[in-house]
Amino acid sequence: MSIVVTGGAGYIGAHVVRLLQLAGQKVVIVDDMSTGSHDRVPADVPLIELDIAAAGATEILAAAFAEHEASAVIHFAARKRVGESVERPTWYYQQNVGGMVNLLAAMEASSVPKLVFSSSAAVYGQPDSGYVAEKTAQEPINPYGQTKLVGEWLARAATTAWGLQYVGLRYFNVAGAGWPELADTVALNLIPMVFEKLCANRAPQIFGTDYPTPDGTCIRDYIHVKDLAEAHLQALAYLDSGRNVFDAFNIGTGNGASVREVIDLVGEVTGLDTTADELPRRPGDPALLVADPALAASELGWTASHDLADMVKSAWEGWPQAPRHTAAH
Ligand SMILES: NC(=O)c1ccc[n+]([C@@H]2O[C@H](COP(=O)([O-])OP(=O)(O)OC[C@H]3O[C@@H](n4cnc5c(N)ncnc54)[C@H](O)[C@@H]3O)[C@@H](O)[C@H]2O)c1
Repeated sequence: MSIVVTGGAGYIGAHVVRLLQLAGQKVVIVDDMSTGSHDRVPADVPLIELDIAAAGATEILAAAFAEHEASAVIHFAARKRVGESVERPTWYYQQNVGGMVNLLAAMEASSVPKLVFSSSAAVYGQPDSGYVAEKTAQEPINPYGQTKLVGEWLARAATTAWGLQYVGLRYFNVAGAGWPELADTVALNLIPMVFEKLCANRAPQIFGTDYPTPDGTCIRDYIHVKDLAEAHLQALAYLDSGRNVFDAFNIGTGNGASVREVIDLVGEVTGLDTTADELPRRPGDPALLVADPALAASELGWTASHDLADMVKSAWEGWPQAPRHTAAH
């Protein structure tokens, strides 16, 4: 029996592959390597290089599931750039929703019973209250968030149609590295974006300093990627337990940190000057977005154990351009 990890050569997927292997599970990775890295694929893990959204992918996936006796799929493979999704919505739907359709069709055809899906806090859009529980209205404000919500709907429909057992995890702001070689190396989230600026001898940027928050900058819920990775193993155990009643879980800490607090912490960890350029607000950024993680605690038995300092330190240890001699303390 093996567990198939789509997108297992990516940042989060590679952490889950590592934890599964440490738990003694057999793993197979499916990845088109568009943003994945061969360095993250362990030598003893089969890699099926495939765009899961391409024509014919269903048949290839179904054959792979049969060959490797897949018992579950953890599905990370997706495009995740919000701005790009606004510019190329049809491609985002084709990739993220089309990929999900092909995956579910293959799982049904080869009777793979369990799915854990990477969803996102982006499904909530700009909620009235910034503290969101799973039942908070899901009103995504960009095509990326919409594709995640449609993915949840598709999987839920499969539970009714053919008995899929399914959990969707709604990640908040993922950061840090469980192992330096698995670190996020792309500057799309705040901490890597600050690193990128600092390593180019430029000032980090703050978009909006007039939000209704204590220091005027946006507040988010940052979650360590290793804590997040562990939530996937807990989700599989939840499905195995047969007592799965809920199918959507917030994966966050329940604590918010402001953009300015994060940037100050990066300064402390790196020893570099992080005086920021203050720019106007970006459209679509809610002032506050923090998880209520109570359901994951009560149902999955999962809580976060790493704090923001762990995230910044471990992310810096794995940042390729970090000047190692200044990375002390
Ligand atoms: N990083 C975050 O902060 C965050 C937050 C919320 C949700 N997510 C979701 O988590 C998942 C993983 O994100 P990540 O940060 O590890 O990103 P990543 O880009 O590092 O990993 C995605 C992986 O999927 C592969 N992939 C993408 N499209 C594919 C396709 N059509 N067919 C096959 N492989 C494909 C890529 O090559 C890559 O290895 C994504 O679904 C993303 O939407 C991430």
